[in-house]
Amino acid sequence: MKKTIKISGRSSKEEIENRQRLLELLKNTPIPDNEILNNMGVYLTRNAVSRILFMHEIYRKILDVSGMIAEFGVRWGQNLSLFESFRALYEPYNYNRKIIGFDTFEGFLSVDLEKDKGFSKAGDYSVTEGYEKYLMQIMDYHERDNPISHIKKYELIKGDAPTELKKYLSENPETIFALIYLDMDVYRPTKDCLEAISGHITKGSVIVFDELNFHLFPGETLALKEVWGLDKYRIYRSAHSPLAGYIVIE
Ligand SMILES: C[S@@+](CC[C@H](N)C(=O)[O-])C[C@H]1O[C@@H](n2cnc3c(N)ncnc32)[C@H](O)[C@@H]1O
Repeated sequence: MKKTIKISGRSSKEEIENRQRLLELLKNTPIPDNEILNNMGVYLTRNAVSRILFMHEIYRKILDVSGMIAEFGVRWGQNLSLFESFRALYEPYNYNRKIIGFDTFEGFLSVDLEKDKGFSKAGDYSVTEGYEKYLMQIMDYHERDNPISHIKKYELIKGDAPTELKKYLSENPETIFALIYLDMDVYRPTKDCLEAISGHITKGSVIVFDELNFHLFPGETLALKEVWGLDKYRIYRSAHSPLAGYIVIE
């Protein structure tokens, strides 16, 4: 039996039970091994499909913007994996579109009792031991399956994201970000990362916040409010996500 890790959810009891049935169906799939990977759509929930559509929507916005993609708050790495596939589909020869993921891989380091309202605690949203090594194998698979596979075009950086980001930027001052995906949920690292990326974004860069205007995780909105204010840029929303919001730098 796998360990359960604490995450916040808003699903009803019926939704949870229904998903449990789907999970059992997946675990007992009669689909032969050689057909499973190409039939994962059988098991995708509406939420999972929405996430894919949202990631696709934002990826399309950076196709003509120079720069790399960074996600802050990777967890199991589904977004990084999707970005790998979108890069292969839309710009297979753009070996300069590096994808970089920052995470502690140990969950929240701390929460600010005032700004994050204490809905979570340190250690929430951790992953299983050594997961980052497993995720690297998944990312390696995607690179091998796609053009220019001899050039590694992704990086996973473990540790406190703002600390690691500042280090990365001092070692690579030429960095331009075309897409920033902020999904650490909590205030302090989001604010510090937002401050650190200034000077490394350009007109057309897209900055996504996974949770805006959301009382269970107020931290990302407070970080945005303090660093840029809420009225400096238009905050777009997507039909595929009730919580996420994004800014296109103009
Ligand atoms: C909600 S999860 C990310 C989910 C992921 N983006 C997705 O869509 O599946 C939040 C992540 O932020 C990470 N995180 C929180 N605080 C962090 C910090 N100070 N530095 C790096 N990562 C952090 C946690 O470890 C966790 O994996």
